[in-house]
Amino acid sequence: MRMPLIAGNWKMNKTVGEAVQLVEELKKLVADVKDVEIAVAPPFTALYPVAQALKGSNIKLAAQDVFWEDSGAYTGEISPVMLKDLGCQYVIVGHSERRQYFGETNETVNRKVKAVLRHGMRPIMCVGEKLEEREAGKTMEVVKDHVVGGLEGLSEEEMERVVIAYEPVWAIGTGRTATPQQAQEVHQFIRELLAEMFSKETAERVRIQYGGSIKPENIAGLMAQPDIDGGLVGGASLQAESFAKIVKFYER
Ligand code: PGA
Repeated sequence: MRMPLIAGNWKMNKTVGEAVQLVEELKKLVADVKDVEIAVAPPFTALYPVAQALKGSNIKLAAQDVFWEDSGAYTGEISPVMLKDLGCQYVIVGHSERRQYFGETNETVNRKVKAVLRHGMRPIMCVGEKLEEREAGKTMEVVKDHVVGGLEGLSEEEMERVVIAYEPVWAIGTGRTATPQQAQEVHQFIRELLAEMFSKETAERVRIQYGGSIKPENIAGLMAQPDIDGGLVGGASLQAESFAKIVKFYER
């Protein structure tokens, strides 16, 4: 049985004060949740205060990105050592916004995935096609390229600690969610691919999240699919109430 993981990706939002207020509210709303793993990914500037606020709660800390070196002359970058030190357990890697605006490639994603694993954290590796790629019938080809490229060189043991987030780019921040069937089709494809690349057992253990315009209204339908093991939530994670409703999808 795979434990669902629902993570909030706050992107470039929330000052320290706002971030702490959000998690203080969220903590109360999800205190009774047991069978869903919950994580929040604040911006780097809010990681420390959010980590303090989350102590003793059932919410885990995630970062939105990382550099692959441990330390050194890399102005502006944040290392996996620093994230681990703050108590991060998850790191989002290869989000489509990073691929689109910051030149992230499969190769940099792969280096980051390995750096996160090397430091005992778990990467949430994002993959997904753009609208024109879907319309050209290239969804599986693009997803396969992201999965194979991002996971190159991992052992089975390492792979079991990776979370994959399937996020169709056309569904991110657009209000246009993939239907549960559209998402399931790609999730199943990813799991079959993992079985080929690693083993059937490993593929069965890896969690594959869906992301893209998740809301309290559509989460239950997505979670009902056999290969959807959670969600990576952007916009709807910026408010405690909507994120808590998504985390408690089983009540809907
Ligand atoms: P969204 O973002 O929920 O606002 O569509 C999801 C994501 O980019 O992780």
